[in-house]
Parts: sequence; structure tokens; C-alpha cells
Amino acid sequence: MGIEAEKRLAAEAAAALVEDGMRVGLGTGSTVAFLLEALAARSLDLRCVATSPRTEEAARALGLAVEPFESFDRLDLAIDGADQIAPDGWLVKGGGAAHTREKIVAAAADRFVVIASSDKPVDRIEPPIPLELMEFGLPATLRALEPTTLRDVPRSPDGGVIADYRGSVEDPEATAARLAATPGVVAHGLFPPSLVYEILVARGDRVQRLVPPG
Ligand code: A5P
Repeated sequence: MGIEAEKRLAAEAAAALVEDGMRVGLGTGSTVAFLLEALAARSLDLRCVATSPRTEEAARALGLAVEPFESFDRLDLAIDGADQIAPDGWLVKGGGAAHTREKIVAAAADRFVVIASSDKPVDRIEPPIPLELMEFGLPATLRALEPTTLRDVPRSPDGGVIADYRGSVEDPEATAARLAATPGVVAHGLFPPSLVYEILVARGDRVQRLVPPG
């Protein structure tokens, strides 16, 4: 079974966790695209929040009700993809530059469920780590974050500049703390295991369920 079929399988497994009346956070990316289809097919009464304009547009086109994230202060469930999944549950997100909103949505959810194909688990987290930076003082922020490169993509929907930290990530917790403590960093793409409820990884025609420790 190919990667696209695995993405669909993981997405369908996550869609089955959604119940009528839930407030649901919708992630961003190609795996989430399958989730949107699977959710729409269930015709549930949901109130959804989207982590990007492209997810919002795709969800609405499929008939899902998307509301601004000013409408809720918590979500029942959030479902999203990932770029890297470490054995201890650390994630890298932001390959699609949506990590700032994705982290806010994940943190607001009672359960944050990650969906992935079998190419996403890694032995250890490797750079690059996506960043969203303030434009104000950008050269000084980049200097403090060396080695970091700007990504040639549009600004985030919140006006942030997208970049990638290319230094060592031997200790994700220490790297996450350093990035978060650097003035000018809006958000970084390291998501801690404490944020994650479960990870659904499709391998061939089976879905493996991983629960991060703690
Ligand atoms: C978006 O910014 C990312 O965090 C995505 O969730 C991540 O890149 C996974 O995307 P795919 O499902 O397309 O691999």
C-alpha cells in the first residue's frame, strides 16, 4: 500500500473518533485533506476550527461548519498531521508553515490526535525545525537563531515570517526551550509529547496506535 493510501487510512481512523456535537480542530496538510473528506462523509453535527485558510476553504467546500477560533476557548478534539514523529512522542510540524495556529489549536484540545503515514516516524528528530518570526528586528532574531534560513513562502495568515532552524536538535526539549525563549520567535515547530494524546500511524493496511509516555 502506498503513502497516499496510508494517509487516507490514518485519517479515516481519526475521523471515526469524532462524535456528534463535538468541537473539532482541523489541522493542515495532505493527510488532513483525507480527514476532511472522511469527516464530511459522516455528516455529523460539528463545530470546527481550521488551522489555516486552505483547510478552512477545503472544509467549507465539503460542507463542514468552520467557525472563527474566537468562538471557543476549548475544543474536544484536534486532529493533525506531522512531519517527523520521534519514538518518545516529540513531533516536528510546520512543513506547510501552519505550525503557529496548529500549536494553538492542539493546546486547546482535550485530545490532540496525530495522523501519519509510515514515512513520518523517525529514530530521532532532525533539523530543520520550522519557525514563525516577527518581522520587527528580523535580522537580529536571525542572528540569535543561527543557523536559521528564511523560507521562500508567503507570510503566515498572522503576518509572520516563515523560517527554518538548521542547528542540532539532539535534545528536542532543550532546543524547544531555546527557540521559545528567543525574542522575535512567534512559534516553533517542535511539539512536545505532553501535547499529544495519541498518534495513529498507518503501515500498509493497518493503523498502529502510539501513546506518548506521560
Ligand atoms: C503544516 O504546517 C504541517 O504541520 C503539517 O501538518 C505537516 O507538514 C504534515 O503535512 P502532510 O500531512 O502533508 O505530510
